[in-house]
Amino acid sequence: MEHKGDTYVLTRETHSSIRLTAQHFLWQRELGWNLHPTIAKHLQDAGTGASVAEIACGNGLWMVEESANHPRAHFTGFDISDAFFPRQENWPSNVQFEKLDAAAAAVPERLQGGFDVVHCRLMLGAIRDGNADPWIETFLALLKPGGYLQWDELHGVRQWTSSNGAADPKWNTFGTSMMKKRVPDSSFEWIAARSETLARHGMVDISQINVDKPSPALRKHWTDNEFAIMEDMATSMRLGEEVLQELADGKKQGFDWFSPLRVVIARKAP
Ligand SMILES: C[S@@+](CC[C@H](N)C(=O)[O-])C[C@H]1O[C@@H](n2cnc3c(N)ncnc32)[C@H](O)[C@@H]1O
Repeated sequence: MEHKGDTYVLTRETHSSIRLTAQHFLWQRELGWNLHPTIAKHLQDAGTGASVAEIACGNGLWMVEESANHPRAHFTGFDISDAFFPRQENWPSNVQFEKLDAAAAAVPERLQGGFDVVHCRLMLGAIRDGNADPWIETFLALLKPGGYLQWDELHGVRQWTSSNGAADPKWNTFGTSMMKKRVPDSSFEWIAARSETLARHGMVDISQINVDKPSPALRKHWTDNEFAIMEDMATSMRLGEEVLQELADGKKQGFDWFSPLRVVIARKAP
């Protein structure tokens, strides 16, 4: 059953979960880690009973992987929809899934201040009005004082292309222009502004990790992923056959395509 506040722009079909799985391994290979080493150490130091919240967890593969790396910690994956959740009998012993609207006004009291680490990846498809404040308020409500946030997004405004400079510049803003066809006042400027926004919310020790270009060995795989996202978005937003045809023509042109990665880490003031 879908949630009434659900603004997600992609589908939740089998192929979407497969795409998230592939994408997870691409992020891991490109960054060299799932959890930033500073935060992994914080979690290690927190010892037995430490807890991690994964917001907008999708099919939860990030948690499944990290729960094996941190067997003494407990992981809870929250998502507005349970459509991607694995069946409960297959959850690792230190992992659980729960439905939660991360943009809702109040975090249930039993969850408040309960987490050493909050991780969130790729909720840019859910924010349409450019306002990330409700999500940040949720992260802060979940975190213990001194706890860490790792928040992974794409650049959002601009995509990277490479075909020796021959790709049509329209591909550099294709995602944004598709979004604007349905949500004319949509904006992704909040992604680049996250460090300042988190500071405004009182967070400390803020730093950013950017990947502007994909590694050559991963370019084919990022490109497949990028086309898959755009096709999914065109389908779920019902943008019509022309957009799908434009994407099919783009594939034949043979350029590499990638959305730059933007990771922010920050700490709730102790
Ligand atoms: C692109 S997927 C990313 C999934 C996962 N984080 C990953 O990296 O594989 C975005 C997820 O955000 C979830 N989502 C959208 N709006 C949400 C909300 N208001 N609260 C919680 N989750 C939400 C969607 O259901 C979807 O599973």
